[in-house]
Amino acid sequence: MAALVRVSAELKASDMSPLNGNAKDGGRYDPAFTGNRAHPLHRWVPWVAGYSAKFVDDVLDTYNGRAVRSRVLDPFAGVGTTLVEARLHGCDTVGFELNPWPALVSRIKLAAGKELRAESLRSAVTAYRAFCASHPRAARKVPTGFKSNIPFFSPSIERKVLLTLDFIDSIDDPWTRGAFRVALGSVMVSFSNYTYEPSLGSRPGAGKALIERADVEAIIAIKAEQMAEDIQTIERAAETPDTERTVYNTSFLDYATVEAGTFDLAITSPPYLNNYHYIRNTRPQMWWLGLVSDAEAQKQVELRSMGKYWQTVRAGDPIHLTFGHDELTRTLRRLRATRTAHGVYGGRGWANYVGSYFNDTYRYLTVLYAALREGGRAVVVVGNSVVQGIPIPVEKHVAEIGKLVGFSHEATNVLRTTRVGGSILNSSVRRGTKTGVDVGLYEAAVILRRRV
Ligand SMILES: C[S@@+](CC[C@H](N)C(=O)[O-])C[C@H]1O[C@@H](n2cnc3c(N)ncnc32)[C@H](O)[C@@H]1O
Repeated sequence: MAALVRVSAELKASDMSPLNGNAKDGGRYDPAFTGNRAHPLHRWVPWVAGYSAKFVDDVLDTYNGRAVRSRVLDPFAGVGTTLVEARLHGCDTVGFELNPWPALVSRIKLAAGKELRAESLRSAVTAYRAFCASHPRAARKVPTGFKSNIPFFSPSIERKVLLTLDFIDSIDDPWTRGAFRVALGSVMVSFSNYTYEPSLGSRPGAGKALIERADVEAIIAIKAEQMAEDIQTIERAAETPDTERTVYNTSFLDYATVEAGTFDLAITSPPYLNNYHYIRNTRPQMWWLGLVSDAEAQKQVELRSMGKYWQTVRAGDPIHLTFGHDELTRTLRRLRATRTAHGVYGGRGWANYVGSYFNDTYRYLTVLYAALREGGRAVVVVGNSVVQGIPIPVEKHVAEIGKLVGFSHEATNVLRTTRVGGSILNSSVRRGTKTGVDVGLYEAAVILRRRV
């Protein structure tokens, strides 16, 4: 971390250290997942990550007092970048992840080399090939409740996916079964009629042809074999201590029973203020892998998401801040007065989203403060935003809210500029081009410390 640039108020490209940017450093700060693609375990499942394994590794090298076994927390664990790296550093590690799909991925990764063995996964791949050869028809049906505008899979592919799910059910060992589900979930969109751009949309909508045929069995087997290879790497490495490895599939914001004062370090990247819809984008995995069974369950995950979503909060009564913050209060007022003719699609709806985002920021920082021991640090990676043409320096507000809940603010380090925006940032109105505002996008790590 020492090599990172320290920036307080003005964030300029000229301030960037040579470490910044995917191209130069092999992907430390990496929402596009390019760096993690090359790393064992991390390469299993692509995710809108916020940072790469290398970044976490740097933070651990800097802050993990190796003399003692640290306890590391990730309140927004995603597919487990922090948790896996912390484990490889010999730390105890606990993650929270609301969405059942990345929560499953994190759990299975943390089991690699312990409960989950390479040999067992390899045997399952052999059994899978035999199963496909001997079962012309699948027993199960398409998950009821899963809706898509066009058929999600073409018929021949759908049959093979259903057959794969039948096979997965037949695996006895729960960890190997979980790993096979991860393998299927990781590749299933690649042979579907949908695509990530980076949000999930139909292939024809993105100007791409439908996929009529694919060697589903081979694609899944190759993925599972790659996973087995990574597990074997861990198995062959020097014996890692049997550390704590817990993933809660629940909201960190509701974590009332946090073991107060027990964590030395938190490394996390909460959802950005870009309305990237994690739930909609993972519907295929959630439904096809049986991780949600009805629309109400999916809705509940949406409602408990950090920041909610614009779609969820835009139409309600005005959402005001639950804590005192003059600048954000003025920003919300200004937003509400923007594009009023567009109703909830204009400033009014977006002000509710921004208000709800920062109210949840206040909540998670409060819980995080309680979770850390005295002197413990939180490294929070966030991106700035431009909403309805109004720039919002999220990293500055996270530092300020951090101070409100009791943290001292040690530093804000810019990690990367000109990041890829989510859908709300790509529209000309939100980028501000129609209003003459020209603000670049960047990501920054806010380093907060619980007072001693
Ligand atoms: C930017 S991603 C984190 C990615 C992670 N750093 C990684 O490398 O995989 C933010 C994550 O927060 C999760 N999330 C959203 N609301 C949450 C909540 N209330 N509690 C826990 N996790 C939540 C999302 O599902 C998403 O996976």
